[in-house]
Amino acid sequence: MITINVTTRDGDRQQIDGVEGTALMEMLRDAGLGIDGTCGGMCSCGSCHVYIANGASLAEQSEDEHDMLEGMAEIVEVRPSSRLSCQVMLKPEMDGLEVEVAPQF
Ligand code: FES
Repeated sequence: MITINVTTRDGDRQQIDGVEGTALMEMLRDAGLGIDGTCGGMCSCGSCHVYIANGASLAEQSEDEHDMLEGMAEIVEVRPSSRLSCQVMLKPEMDGLEVEVAPQF
């Protein structure tokens, strides 16, 4: 199991567990933590936006993810730690990752 520490939009802290290869978006959505995943993980809706505090172990953003986040910056706060959680696949080295659910837009 890979444990992710989540701060919700209400400021609540929760821990959720997932398995390697699962998209972070699916974990957050299935746990009812305010992530819709409207496009089903196709990197085209932005509804899975999160901030990741200690994301050094994550893969680099793809061009598509980068472009999507860049476009979203006009309507929501995009930070250097911003990621689309549908593009973040769980790996063992992500155990203990700190994730904050970004504001809805
Ligand atoms: S679920 Fe749509 S961009 Fe991630």
